[in-house]
Amino acid sequence: MGSSFSNDLPHLVVGGDSMVGAALAAALRQGGQTVHATTRRQESHGPDRPLLDLARPQDWPEAFPARYGAAHICAAVARLDDCFRDPHGTHAINVTNMVALARRLAADGTQVIFLSTNQVLDGSLPFPDETAAVVPSNVYGQQKAAAERALQDLAADMPEAVVTILRLSKVLPPHLPLFTDWADSLAQGRPIDAAVDMSLAPVPVSLVVDALRRLAGARLPGLFQLSSALEIDYAAAGYHLCRYLAADPVLVRPVRAVAAGYVLEQPPRHTIMDSGKLARAVGIQAPDPLAVLDDLFANLPPHP
Ligand SMILES: NC(=O)c1ccc[n+]([C@@H]2O[C@H](COP(=O)([O-])OP(=O)(O)OC[C@H]3O[C@@H](n4cnc5c(N)ncnc54)[C@H](OP(=O)(O)O)[C@@H]3O)[C@@H](O)[C@H]2O)c1
Repeated sequence: MGSSFSNDLPHLVVGGDSMVGAALAAALRQGGQTVHATTRRQESHGPDRPLLDLARPQDWPEAFPARYGAAHICAAVARLDDCFRDPHGTHAINVTNMVALARRLAADGTQVIFLSTNQVLDGSLPFPDETAAVVPSNVYGQQKAAAERALQDLAADMPEAVVTILRLSKVLPPHLPLFTDWADSLAQGRPIDAAVDMSLAPVPVSLVVDALRRLAGARLPGLFQLSSALEIDYAAAGYHLCRYLAADPVLVRPVRAVAAGYVLEQPPRHTIMDSGKLARAVGIQAPDPLAVLDDLFANLPPHP
């Protein structure tokens, strides 16, 4: 399993402008590690920002700029509606070309760490573990499931390859515009619409970064999952924000996600996953969802 690899080798973050990729690259650099974080934006291109467009494999360089210990594949068309609207174009990016890139990296001895999603599961039951049947219920989930399968086939074809898949539920950045908007509305006594049929099992991006660093540090192959320890819905998040701001909870208007126009496809009933395997492997504990929200609320701009 690539024992000649040392943790000092540079990391490759594919998708350095993504929420997770940017946070990961920053944390790795802060920890003294060398990081190449790819971009598809000409203006961001630089020595540690190689250009890489997953839609244009014909432009990829013959060889990577360095030999990497781990490659964290964060780039994707990650919006459900974008995948729904353009299933073919997004399949090329999220599956075909991503897997071609992963194959090249694995052939160089680089650990491939792929970020997947709870959306590969149908969400009919809470707490599925890694052995649960993969039954995606939307186009994005179908693509992530196809990518997982292809990477597992790759690992089977190349016994020396180290392929790690981390399925994530909703990842929250330190500042979420939705909560800022809600807080503004509540502070002005205006109602907020919050979906009762959208599950939220949030994990902070900092915890995802920690998980990725540990999976890379241990060079651990396999399939892992990370979500919060309990799930709530967006209306419950709205009520929690009311408690935090001492706002009137009557201002929360429970709505249905599709009818309200938030998403085109009915969201899965459950997004929570069993995260026990990750906890046992690298000590990352599933967080309390309300504590995750409290940390975000603490970052809200002050209201008079
Ligand atoms: N956020 C979540 O809640 C969540 C949950 C589960 C799994 N995930 C997975 O975790 C990964 C990271 O998520 P995220 O929320 O950090 O993603 P994100 O912020 O939506 O960023 C996606 C990135 O992919 C890049 N990208 C899109 N098309 C590309 C292409 N053709 N070539 C190269 N790059 C391309 C985008 O580049 P530009 O910035 O230039 O547009 C963007 O930086 C994704 O694979 C996502 O599916 C995320």
